[in-house]
Amino acid sequence: MDLYQGILTRRSIRKYTSKTVPDELVRELINAAMHAPSARNSQPWHFVVLDDRKILNQIPKVHPNAKMLEQASLGILLCGDEDLALTKEYLPLDLAAATQNLLLAVHAKGLGAVWIGIYPREARIEAMRDLLNLPSTILPVSLVSIGFPGEEAPKVDRFIEERIHKNGW
Ligand SMILES: Cc1cc2nc3c(=O)[nH]c(=O)nc-3n(C[C@H](O)[C@H](O)[C@H](O)COP(=O)(O)O)c2cc1C
Repeated sequence: MDLYQGILTRRSIRKYTSKTVPDELVRELINAAMHAPSARNSQPWHFVVLDDRKILNQIPKVHPNAKMLEQASLGILLCGDEDLALTKEYLPLDLAAATQNLLLAVHAKGLGAVWIGIYPREARIEAMRDLLNLPSTILPVSLVSIGFPGEEAPKVDRFIEERIHKNGW
C-alpha cells in the first residue's frame, strides 16, 4: 500500500473476525511503532501485548469506550517510561507518534484497529496500572485494539481549506 493512500484511508475499526493475529505480525506492528520519531530520539516506549481473553474482557469494565476489546483477539498498550524520556512532559507526545505508526502499520497489513484513549485520564491510567501491574514510573498512554476487520469504514474527506494559514494567522 502506498503510504500516502494508507494515511488517507486509515479508519478506526471496532469490529473483528475471530481470526487471531499471528505473533510474527504482532512483532512487525510493534517494529513499526518503534520507528516513530521521539524527542531527542529517546525511544521511551514499552509495549504490553494483551491476548489473554480474561484481561481483554476486564478492560471494558474499567474503561467506558473499550467494549470492542471483547471481540478483539489482540490489544497493545503503549506505555512511556519516565526513566527513558527526555523529560516527563514529552512522554505523551512520543507515545502518540508511536501509536499513529502502529495504526498505520495495522492498516498496511490488512488488519483493523482503533486507538483507545488512556492518558490523560487519571482513572484510566490507574486502572491500567492496577490491572497489569505497571510500575509507577510507567505511564500508559494509549491502548490499541487490533484484529482482522469485521467491518468496513469508508474513506472520508477531511481536508479543510480554512485551517491553513500562510506566513502567520
Ligand atoms: C487520543 C484518542 C483517544 C481515543 N479514544 C478512543 C476510545 O477510547 N474509544 C474509541 O472507540 N475510539 C477512540 N478514539 C478513536 C477516535 O474516536 C477516532 O479516531 C475518530 O473518531 C476518527 O475516526 P477514524 O479513526 O475512523 O478516522 C480515540 C482517538 C484518539 C486520537
